[in-house]
Amino acid sequence: MFRIAYVNGRYLRHDHALVHVEDRGFQFADGVYEVCAVVGGALVDAGPHLDRLDRSLREVRMPWPMSRSAMLSVMREVVRRNRVRDGSIYLQITRGAARREFAFPQDAVQSVVMTARQTSHNKSLALAEVGVKVISLPDIRWARRDIKSVALLPNVLSKQQAKQAGAYEAWLVDPEGYVTEGSSSNAWIVDRDGNIVTRSVSNAILSGITRWAVLEVARRAGVAVVERKFSVPEAQAAREAFLTSSTSFVLPIVQIDEEMVGNGHPGPMAGQLRQLFAQHVAKETGAKLARTGL
Ligand code: PDD
Repeated sequence: MFRIAYVNGRYLRHDHALVHVEDRGFQFADGVYEVCAVVGGALVDAGPHLDRLDRSLREVRMPWPMSRSAMLSVMREVVRRNRVRDGSIYLQITRGAARREFAFPQDAVQSVVMTARQTSHNKSLALAEVGVKVISLPDIRWARRDIKSVALLPNVLSKQQAKQAGAYEAWLVDPEGYVTEGSSSNAWIVDRDGNIVTRSVSNAILSGITRWAVLEVARRAGVAVVERKFSVPEAQAAREAFLTSSTSFVLPIVQIDEEMVGNGHPGPMAGQLRQLFAQHVAKETGAKLARTGL
């Protein structure tokens, strides 16, 4: 079976799927995107992902290239044609192909690309059982990290540096010494009082959909939640640390730079939140809890 990509209205073989050399996504990173998890063949939190896409489009002054319901239908079709049970879908919208001028083109047609891929949630489960390491790096990104823009070079560079350091993720630190988020995930700690702490939403971070879902399930379960900044030393001394994203779900962190977090093993709160998030995913997708692989 061939992988299938959606490109501007057509479902193409993945290895034949191309966009124009003068696509503004390619030349200017003039585009926005979404990544949505797929569990049991169904999209996880598609509604909130499309709400965030709506906001990103508005902030970069792009219209919807098709209706929201049509977008959702294409997303489902891409998942179906690729027979993805567990994995993710990638969706990208750019301002289209046009002669290279910085200002918006007059008559370009927006490009819409989608791909889906199968990933094993077992790998995520295995990682969650042992926890991961993160390193801290200066946050060198632009001032509008709330927009899910395809301009990800600083994220690419920081993730590569993390990989070379044997770490799973890089936590990015603002000039005041506070963690903003990871290069592709949101950052959390469990403080000395047992509160779960994550930075509040602003232009400094992406408003993660997993972050939102975890806050929801935590509050409903009576877990104390505080949205505030924290520093790397506070995180290193915290009871627990973890990260969230559509591809990692809730993942415990056991080491930050050279310091162990807690006793160096995944903590109970991260475990509980992963469980609560799994129940949320099962409810959302109709997948059996065991099938969520969480
Ligand atoms: N990244 N912060 C950043 C900078 C991100 O790129 C992401 C997601 C998140 C978490 O958001 P969510 O919970 O909605 O996935 C936070 C995706 C997974 C990616 O670019 O592949």
